[in-house]
Amino acid sequence: MNASRPTLETDGPPAEQIQSVVAAFTKHFGRQPNFGAAAPGRVNIIGEHTDYNDGFVLPMAIDRWTVVVGDHALADRSTFLAVDLKETAHCDLRGELSPIEGNFANYLMGVADQFNKRAIKVPNLDIAITTSVSIGAGLASSAAMEVAMATLLEVLLKKSFDPVEKAKLCQKAEHEFVGTPCGIMDMLIAIKAKSDHALLIDCQTNATEPIPLPLDKDVSILIADTHVRHDLAQSEYVNRRQTCEDAARKLGYETLRQVESDYEPAVNKITTTGQALTEEEVLCATHVLNENKRVQSAANALRKGEMETVGQLMFDSHTSLKELFKVSCEELDVIVDTAAKLRADSGVLGARMTGGGFGGCAIILCNTQSVDKISVDLLEAFVEQFDYLPTLFTTPAVGGARSIGV
Ligand code: GLA
Repeated sequence: MNASRPTLETDGPPAEQIQSVVAAFTKHFGRQPNFGAAAPGRVNIIGEHTDYNDGFVLPMAIDRWTVVVGDHALADRSTFLAVDLKETAHCDLRGELSPIEGNFANYLMGVADQFNKRAIKVPNLDIAITTSVSIGAGLASSAAMEVAMATLLEVLLKKSFDPVEKAKLCQKAEHEFVGTPCGIMDMLIAIKAKSDHALLIDCQTNATEPIPLPLDKDVSILIADTHVRHDLAQSEYVNRRQTCEDAARKLGYETLRQVESDYEPAVNKITTTGQALTEEEVLCATHVLNENKRVQSAANALRKGEMETVGQLMFDSHTSLKELFKVSCEELDVIVDTAAKLRADSGVLGARMTGGGFGGCAIILCNTQSVDKISVDLLEAFVEQFDYLPTLFTTPAVGGARSIGV
């Protein structure tokens, strides 16, 4: 086997991860794969529940990877092997495709389906997939799978998409095969991430701007996975999205992004369309309008290296997600509140929940030299309340999806 790290980027999935998925493919299919691709997970530094409102987000890709390897199938059907789950699924990629309820293969088939729908005919394939992006942790594991699959198909079919088109294709796969009406943030960052940078995304135009993020030297991003996975996350996501769309419509716009930035929903509940916003719509719209401003302020502060300002904006974002948008949970709040209490002289700069909410991860922006001490304090405070430990890890900001040598 000739598993090598990517040649252009200095980061990428570890050689052992590539080797293990290649070995699993070889064992299962009795031959070596010829193609490989990888895509990273992400944390969102700030800008939550703004992407599907055409707003701003500021994510970075993390050093956790989904790796897919594969080749043309020898039989008249496709086989997907989920190495971590020890599960296989089958379908005929050349025929009419439809989701299989609750199956991991939906992320892969959904992407193939989008290629087919764009008249790029996908042949039957044998594929093995593995991931170090925790599933359901708010680290965009779904997008990592979809983008890795799309990248594999690009290499295999010698077809290369414009990055935004590719992100939209993966987003459509998620909508149609997984059923989550997500925004475009997760796919765009998995595709366009740049090492040592966060990515400012304007979800109205899909314009992106990498912003330097000198992690490790002075500051670090510490991720705390609460291991809480709430079933209601998906249905509440759908509800919040609907509430935002209703608010925008009542205000006479298609999206909340179009609403004047100095408009205050709580003050001006009666709209030009004559329809009053409900209390819930006022709260959600207020969060989105203010969060968009916070993202722009955070991007400005980052450009100037004003990390304390970024940190404060993160705390403000969390308060808004907890009190107005109502997507936090006790476990996330304990992490963020503990970080806020430690703050003064402990090296904590900011903290907030990241991702869709109702569990998953919080991120803490802190001085690198204080990471160990802050971790101990967070673990102690958490275990005292909940009797188990969250998983803590730091990560560099890595580059986006790429093909890999196998
Ligand atoms: C999930 C979705 C994203 C985004 C976030 C909330 O991660 O996949 O599109 O909406 O929630 O910011």
